[in-house]
Amino acid sequence: MRDPAGPALIVGASGGIGGALYQHLSRERRVVSISSQAKCRADWFESDYSESSLENISESVDCRFSLIIICNGFLHGDGLMPEKRVVDLEPRSLALAFERNAIIPSMVLKHFRTHIEQVREAHCGVLSARIGSIGDNRSGGWYSYRCSKAALNMIVKTLAIELGRTHKNLALVALHPGTTQSNLSDPFLRRSSHQRASAKITAQRIERVLTSLTPLDSGGFFDWQGNSVQW
Ligand SMILES: NC(=O)c1ccc[n+]([C@@H]2O[C@H](COP(=O)([O-])OP(=O)(O)OC[C@H]3O[C@@H](n4cnc5c(N)ncnc54)[C@H](OP(=O)(O)O)[C@@H]3O)[C@@H](O)[C@H]2O)c1
Repeated sequence: MRDPAGPALIVGASGGIGGALYQHLSRERRVVSISSQAKCRADWFESDYSESSLENISESVDCRFSLIIICNGFLHGDGLMPEKRVVDLEPRSLALAFERNAIIPSMVLKHFRTHIEQVREAHCGVLSARIGSIGDNRSGGWYSYRCSKAALNMIVKTLAIELGRTHKNLALVALHPGTTQSNLSDPFLRRSSHQRASAKITAQRIERVLTSLTPLDSGGFFDWQGNSVQW
């Protein structure tokens, strides 16, 4: 049975989807947030996402979470856009994408694994992207983003196996939130008729899908409709 009162952790709580998740979840439960942005709110921790910062926050948090959602992600910015061809690929774009899409979520999982509810059921979702699916890659391009999300997916799968030994009631999964209006998607949606959801709708979908998963689903990759996504 779902425990509606269990506290939640949102990492990346100022982003489009992270911010909407904060708004949605804080209506019904305590929400602890980690963000690169400062806000004067209870349980709000500003972080530069360095390992030491995450470690310090983890040490000052006093509860176990029944819901954790990691929303960090990077597709464009700092003068970089997704690569169309391999000649566009630069070490800096790969390094930044791996840092923000794979390394930071991994360090969050490392330092907050001890805060995952162990007795009652717990759900932990890491926002990935269908574009990180190797099996589903039919259009090519976007090298750095694709590779870093594929790496993230492997981290989630591997950690789910490890935590499965100690957290019998945990579902830890990678999630594709679906195309959603946000800063991350904005440059690609402006002149496109591609269907997209508002961040508010996506937040509701993510909560619904994630909390419906069971420990048998742990280590999987699911989309916003609850369908399994191939690796
Ligand atoms: N939007 C879509 O269509 C779409 C589709 C597929 C997958 N996704 C995935 O969904 C997730 C959320 O994306 P979004 O659409 O909400 O994008 P967004 O609005 O651009 O949010 C970016 C996220 O990254 C965090 N962030 C900011 N600076 C960072 C840094 N230096 N290092 C690490 N993280 C940093 C932000 O949190 P703070 O500002 O609070 O630090 C925020 O959670 C991402 O993982 C993205 O890849 C989105």
